[in-house]
Amino acid sequence: MNQINKIGVLTSGGDSPGMNATIRSVVRAAIGFGLKVVGVRRGYNGLIHGDVIELNALSVSDIIQKGGTFLYTARCKEFMEEAGREKAVEKAHEFGIDGLVVIGGDGSFCGAEKLSELGIPTIGIPGTIDNDIACTEYSIGFDTACNIGMEAVDRLRDTTQSHEKCSLVEVMGRRAGYLALNIGIATGATAILVPEKAYDVKKDICNKILAAQKQGKTNHIIIVAEGCKDHVGEIAKQVEAQTGIDTRITILGHIQRGGTPTVLDRVNATRMGYHAVELLHNGMGNRLVAIKQDLVVDYSIEEGMAMQKSINEKLYEIN
Ligand code: ADP
Ligand code: F6P
Repeated sequence: MNQINKIGVLTSGGDSPGMNATIRSVVRAAIGFGLKVVGVRRGYNGLIHGDVIELNALSVSDIIQKGGTFLYTARCKEFMEEAGREKAVEKAHEFGIDGLVVIGGDGSFCGAEKLSELGIPTIGIPGTIDNDIACTEYSIGFDTACNIGMEAVDRLRDTTQSHEKCSLVEVMGRRAGYLALNIGIATGATAILVPEKAYDVKKDICNKILAAQKQGKTNHIIIVAEGCKDHVGEIAKQVEAQTGIDTRITILGHIQRGGTPTVLDRVNATRMGYHAVELLHNGMGNRLVAIKQDLVVDYSIEEGMAMQKSINEKLYEIN
């Protein structure tokens, strides 16, 4: 078993609230285990180009409450090629990095697996607002993004109610509907569309609006996941044509990725960051940290990435 003396930490792919809390936890845990720790900036780009900074306990003080990532994040085409990854490994050796923690999503974990194969033990921590990583029930940033989305829709509700309109709100989530489903439930939406479920605009939205109108309801919120097959604007036109209600569309966009991380995100970030360092310290690499029934667990990257996850059927039915 190779002795680990110095580890690196980087954030990759889309940022998510709680990434800073995760970096902080990694740094503090590393120091606790007697390891040196460096931050690699701008994802895998930083590894290829040696954008590496020394980190100590003070470097990560006062960041637990901040959204985004102070190490910056990026998508790196060069790292997709073997030559780029070889450069990254050379740089890791040059900086004495003998283990790495990568905070990101599925794409970043593919890179982490390849780095492990090239002899740099690498651990992945799920950090994405989409919560679409199959092996974990929870990814860092999801709870905050749900809350940000919920607050935004609550505001929309005020004006939608006052003007007796129908607001169709597009929320992020890439190809997954976890954010949409949770935000829709939390805001009492009339209908929720997610990419995992086939829908029919008449049956799944218009009929619900018409039934609620009969009971006297005069405003409606419809949540549409960005991964749905139709654009929210197209759905709005159909709703207006079939129900006669005046519609408006709002695309929440990147607003959902920012903001102060919630308690859940900070605590999970802290737990997962510690676990990742413990794995490296124990000589493990090529693992994904995950949360399963509120326990922090880990899987080989290959096993974790091969798992399947689906929308919470019960929650979808309740809607
Ligand atoms: P996320 O990690 O949020 O899913 P991306 O899919 O954009 O985000 O991946 C982030 C980065 O991870 C990419 O820019 C690339 O550098 C690296 N990456 C993605 N897929 C692979 C792959 N198959 N092999 C090596 N590196 C990859
Ligand atoms: O993966 C996080 C995410 O915010 C997705 O929900 C969204 O589809 C994507 O990233 C947007 O990416 P970009 O910031 O490159 O526009």
